[in-house]
Amino acid sequence: MHQANASMINPDVAAIPMSKREAIWKAMEGRNDLANLASGNPDMVMPEPVRKAMRKQVDEGYARYTDYYGFKELREGISGMLAQDWSLQANSEDAIIVTCGVQQGLYVVMRSIFKPGDEVIIPSPHYGTYYQNTLACGAKPVLVPLAESGNFVPDFERLAAAVSAKSRAIVFCNPNNPLGVVWSHQTLKSLAEFAQAHDLLVLVDEIYRDYTFNGEPLSIGSLPGMAQRTFTFGGFSKSHLMMGLRIGFVAGPPALMHTVKKLHYCVALCPSVISQAAAQAALACTDADLAPIRNHFAAKLDHLYRRIKALPSVSCVAPGGSFYVFPNFSRYDSDAMTFAIRLIEEAGVVTLPGTEFGKLGQGHLRLSVCATEAEVSEGIQRLETFIHKLHG
Ligand SMILES: Cc1ncc(COP(=O)(O)O)c(C=O)c1O
Repeated sequence: MHQANASMINPDVAAIPMSKREAIWKAMEGRNDLANLASGNPDMVMPEPVRKAMRKQVDEGYARYTDYYGFKELREGISGMLAQDWSLQANSEDAIIVTCGVQQGLYVVMRSIFKPGDEVIIPSPHYGTYYQNTLACGAKPVLVPLAESGNFVPDFERLAAAVSAKSRAIVFCNPNNPLGVVWSHQTLKSLAEFAQAHDLLVLVDEIYRDYTFNGEPLSIGSLPGMAQRTFTFGGFSKSHLMMGLRIGFVAGPPALMHTVKKLHYCVALCPSVISQAAAQAALACTDADLAPIRNHFAAKLDHLYRRIKALPSVSCVAPGGSFYVFPNFSRYDSDAMTFAIRLIEEAGVVTLPGTEFGKLGQGHLRLSVCATEAEVSEGIQRLETFIHKLHG
């Protein structure tokens, strides 16, 4: 029997950089007096129709394997929703799979389409998994800076300069985690033209779609010429507060989804039957079930933004959606991790350093409104007191 050693490990997987959040958790240890502006877990519970469907599923005791790609009725429901609300034509048989969250969808799509040596354009700061999954596939992430001075809107000259003969795709989320921005319809149209001009696939993560607060959401995959090159990821984790149920979906070009399905079968077999029942109920939720959730987060985000914006020597791009703002505190500390730890230790408020979203997040903190209204207010107040003290 050989001793386990590094040569037995796939180097692409070994090279995946993991979060450095341990330093934050360590600073939090033993403290029950902290106000948490870092959490990604919302303070509300799932809508009642979803809970009811789950109870029914449990009572019936039906827990067999399902169709590998999700209940037929669920895929049909997603297809109908995409057609009606997202203006996306995705056939339930060959263009959609139900996944164990967007996270699993991203992996199976990226692993199915990227080859070692391919380059993947990631506007950055970015959601960490886009970078990690690219590396897991042996492909090369190419980060293109989103400038705060340009309201985190992509600069098309910079994007074009990042394209090479090896470029395969561009990956982004809209609304954006961690930046809080929602790109305009014009920006999405320009991105669609850019993808077509350079023959790129587009992977768009719309997990925060229901939290678009600055106008009507637009799916880039619905734009002319985009259906055959776009994978659209969506889910129920944020919209219906079903994070722990691990259920989402991906819609993509059937010719490519054919291969994605094989990998999905290998890694998941099928999504959880209870979560699928919950997702079906989620699709049937009405605006009366969902508007209170959206309004709750919209109000907290607006409050957070207004208070942060008023801080001396702190800049903050106005959020258009999601649960986040991404203010710049570099006037007070050039290192985001050091500043985040100081905030825990000296101000009793937890935030995430912008560097958790790539090195281009240096100088920024990501603040979220997932905690209760009272905790968010307390966190802001502590931040204000601390900043005013530093500012003198
Ligand atoms: C941008 C983004 N995409 C995907 C996910 C994960 O989604 P899911 O729970 O559907 O796997 C998250 C979770 O925070 C996220 O912020």
